[in-house]
Amino acid sequence: GLKKKEVHVLCIGLDNSGKTTIINKLKPSNAQTQDIVPTIGFSIEKFKTSSLSFTVFDMSGQGRYRNLWEHYYKEGQAIIFVIDSSDKLRMVVAKEELDTLLNHPDIKHRRLPILFFANKMDLRDAISSVKVSQLLSLENIKDKPWHICASDALKGEGLQEGVDWLQGISY
Ligand code: GTP
Ligand code: MG
Repeated sequence: GLKKKEVHVLCIGLDNSGKTTIINKLKPSNAQTQDIVPTIGFSIEKFKTSSLSFTVFDMSGQGRYRNLWEHYYKEGQAIIFVIDSSDKLRMVVAKEELDTLLNHPDIKHRRLPILFFANKMDLRDAISSVKVSQLLSLENIKDKPWHICASDALKGEGLQEGVDWLQGISY
């Protein structure tokens, strides 16, 4: 068959936000794992859509590994940034990491698409995706296409909307 165009995606966000759970759900069901553990360093994962083949660098969000993220910025063609919508205490930390990303020389002047998942929407104390985008000041991102989806990675809700958006970008 036709070879699908390959797109390199960097999946980042704080530890425990649900990155690995999201990426796992995007894989075909026979390739999904049942037990997800905190990522050490990073892990390379693949999933396909009808027109694209995504290679995802699923980075660890733990503080001690966050300095690894920037080494993969250059080859990233899109970013998935995951937020735990119920973690109000660390929303400011997530914003700091996002601002550091946006100001990085390998990111700053590129029209790199950023897909945000306001994840863990199923939890009772989760805030809305509108509120998440306000707290992260997403409206200030003017030179990059971005999109935010509310998601529940455990049920897989909201993930397809995000992938559809990613697929609609020309790489
Ligand atoms: P690191 O690899 O440490 O950076 O974490 P991560 O962002 O990859 O998070 P991971 O996917 O390991 O998920 C962390 C925990 O959150 C796990 O217990 C998941 O089952 C849980 N989780 C992930 N997504 C959701 C969600 O949408 N809702 C709920 N309730 N729990 C979730
Ligand atoms: Mg992980």
